[in-house]
Amino acid sequence: MSGFSPEWLALREPADVRARNADVANALAARMALREHVSVVDLGCGTGSNLRTTSALLPARQSWTLVDYDANLLDAARKVLIAWADAAHEHGDGSIDLTSGSRAISVRFRQADLVEGLETVLEPAPDLVTAAALFDLASPAFIQRAARVIARARAVFYTVLTYNGIQHWQPRQPSDGQMTAAFNRHQMSDKGFGASAGPTAPVHLAEQFELVGYTVIEGQSPWLLASGREARLIAELVEGQAAAVAETGAVDARTIERWLKVSRTGAEVGHVDTLAVPPPEGELRLD
Ligand SMILES: C[S@@+](CC[C@H](N)C(=O)[O-])C[C@H]1O[C@@H](n2cnc3c(N)ncnc32)[C@H](O)[C@@H]1O
Repeated sequence: MSGFSPEWLALREPADVRARNADVANALAARMALREHVSVVDLGCGTGSNLRTTSALLPARQSWTLVDYDANLLDAARKVLIAWADAAHEHGDGSIDLTSGSRAISVRFRQADLVEGLETVLEPAPDLVTAAALFDLASPAFIQRAARVIARARAVFYTVLTYNGIQHWQPRQPSDGQMTAAFNRHQMSDKGFGASAGPTAPVHLAEQFELVGYTVIEGQSPWLLASGREARLIAELVEGQAAAVAETGAVDARTIERWLKVSRTGAEVGHVDTLAVPPPEGELRLD
């Protein structure tokens, strides 16, 4: 179990879809447009939300490998993807062939811990390595390692919804800044990869891919949540944030309790989408 439930991932999926940066998405689509087929590895796939949105940017024939260390999420991914597709065919080995609109998408599922097996899951080298809401959990050292192994594969890299530390709550409260600062510190604790990059992850991603010679395109992808549409998501964010802040000991219990009681009508949570494309042959910088 990873601590990410299928219910939580389903709750955030519509907000994730709306938040994605269109310019970065269009740049990926343009980069891939001339291919007939694309092979993709999705790191930390959860229930497959990234495939459901990113496949629309890619050519008509696609082969995806969905990687997660949580077997329950991989099982959920298979079911949710079969329900999502226009048509689905299951194979005996657990892989599935999906049709979505004009796209034929074959999907394999791979249970692996990225900390141990990142290099292995990127063999054979795919055309595209992607992830959603993953890299803020990772350490700066893992981000550096990912940039180097992806560059060695000369794969395109596209990751969306990396938290960048920005929060705006409506109505505003005097303690919002203190709560956000403590939450961001909590986001930098160890989430399985060593101390996380947390809200600095987008900067590390851009830096590390530029260091290996890639061209990086970034865009903001904030959640813009309104209480009518996303009341439950806002409520769960508030609760999760209060619990995380309490663990830091950086904010006194009364302040947290008061902050928790305020009914929020809206929230902005900042993210960044990152596309990194390899340089022409021979210009990689991998000493
Ligand atoms: C925030 S969820 C995002 C899931 C999915 N990409 C989405 O956008 O809905 C992070 C995912 O990364 C997976 N994960 C976290 N650490 C991992 C690791 N070390 N190895 C493999 N998967 C990991 C979790 O199980 C979870 O599915």
